[in-house]
Amino acid sequence: MNLEEIQRREARVFLPVVNRMPVALVEGRGSRVVDVAGREYVDLTAGWGVCSIGHCHPTLVEAIREQAGRLMQTTNLFYTLPQLDAAEALVALAPDPLTRVFFVNSGTEAVEGALKLAHRATGRRQFVSTGQSFHGRTLGALGVIGQAKHRDPYRDLLPEPLVVPFGDADAAAAAIDASTAAFIVEPVQGEGGVNVPPPGYLARLREHCDAVGALLIFDEVQTGIGRTGRMLAMEHDGVVPDVVTLGKGLGGGFPVAAFLCSEGVAETVKPGDHGGTYIGNPLATAAVNAVLQVVEEDKLVQRADEVGSKLAARLRAFADAHPERASGERGLGLLRGLVLRDAEAAAGLPRRALDAGILVNVTAGNVMRFFPALNIPEDELFTATDTLLELIQAS
Ligand SMILES: Cc1ncc(COP(=O)(O)O)c(C=O)c1O
Repeated sequence: MNLEEIQRREARVFLPVVNRMPVALVEGRGSRVVDVAGREYVDLTAGWGVCSIGHCHPTLVEAIREQAGRLMQTTNLFYTLPQLDAAEALVALAPDPLTRVFFVNSGTEAVEGALKLAHRATGRRQFVSTGQSFHGRTLGALGVIGQAKHRDPYRDLLPEPLVVPFGDADAAAAAIDASTAAFIVEPVQGEGGVNVPPPGYLARLREHCDAVGALLIFDEVQTGIGRTGRMLAMEHDGVVPDVVTLGKGLGGGFPVAAFLCSEGVAETVKPGDHGGTYIGNPLATAAVNAVLQVVEEDKLVQRADEVGSKLAARLRAFADAHPERASGERGLGLLRGLVLRDAEAAAGLPRRALDAGILVNVTAGNVMRFFPALNIPEDELFTATDTLLELIQAS
């Protein structure tokens, strides 16, 4: 089977909503993937920040294999051990008072669950979110998304969210009032361009929400499980929300997500208020347990912090030396962005990188985003980075 044949077959049957790169991937190992023609690439996208322990980590593969041969699915009317272990592990790693967990299948569903909880806990319907935010693509998640390009095509179906500029605590204060169910925010915006808020922003959100009885939701689908050099990005500021969503790196490649909430919020729901066929699926939660084991044993949170700082220094040095090409670097841990001046050149970068054997993503139009596996070998990361910087310099 070659690429052209795959492209021809897919064009006949798939909903045409994705523009693909001209590569069909067949294998992944660590931070490298291999295409159908046998060509290898360094993956700086980790499959949208998901494969945070690398592609097909042996511990994860073995855990899934073992669980698949034992018990794959039950109704949620029964207790299962993998789910219980995963729930206890998440409660142990989350700060107080986040003591209650619910597993779902995707980040978007975690956001949906968080929004439903906020409505149940407050009885209110108004959500406030931030410009450039990304929270998923179901109607509920689109209802709080700050990115017009995703939201506008479905505008007729959605309630109008109150969207305030990200990082602006005064604007947030003006928008949060007694009608607010929750303020939802990513502690570091990923899709929106790797935006880090100013110090004190999250703490002020906490104060404003508390003052009017609104909930604070942190969407850590992209930033959670070590990505920013802390287990949870909220730890950088020491601010704890009422609800936090997790996804992506939580399953290391297996589609699983979760949300955690405080005891007080949990008390506002009863059996039947939320559910789902695959909720807490044994295979998915066995994957979570394996990922958390690897993250802990291999000290990947500290590693993301250390290697991320080196990457930041490299990107900053490039921006300083080539101000006509890049205006700066931003991010935390191994979620980093290099802000490029020329959006047109930026748009062509992933394709040129591909030709050079590197998978990289450009988000928000002009931000080259790095979110590789947290255990990517330094030589792979920095060799690929140097190649990318040369491509940018030559563009
Ligand atoms: C912060 C954030 N929330 C939610 C989502 C949606 O997650 P999923 O694509 O798993 O539904 C994403 C995906 O990129 C995200 O970055």
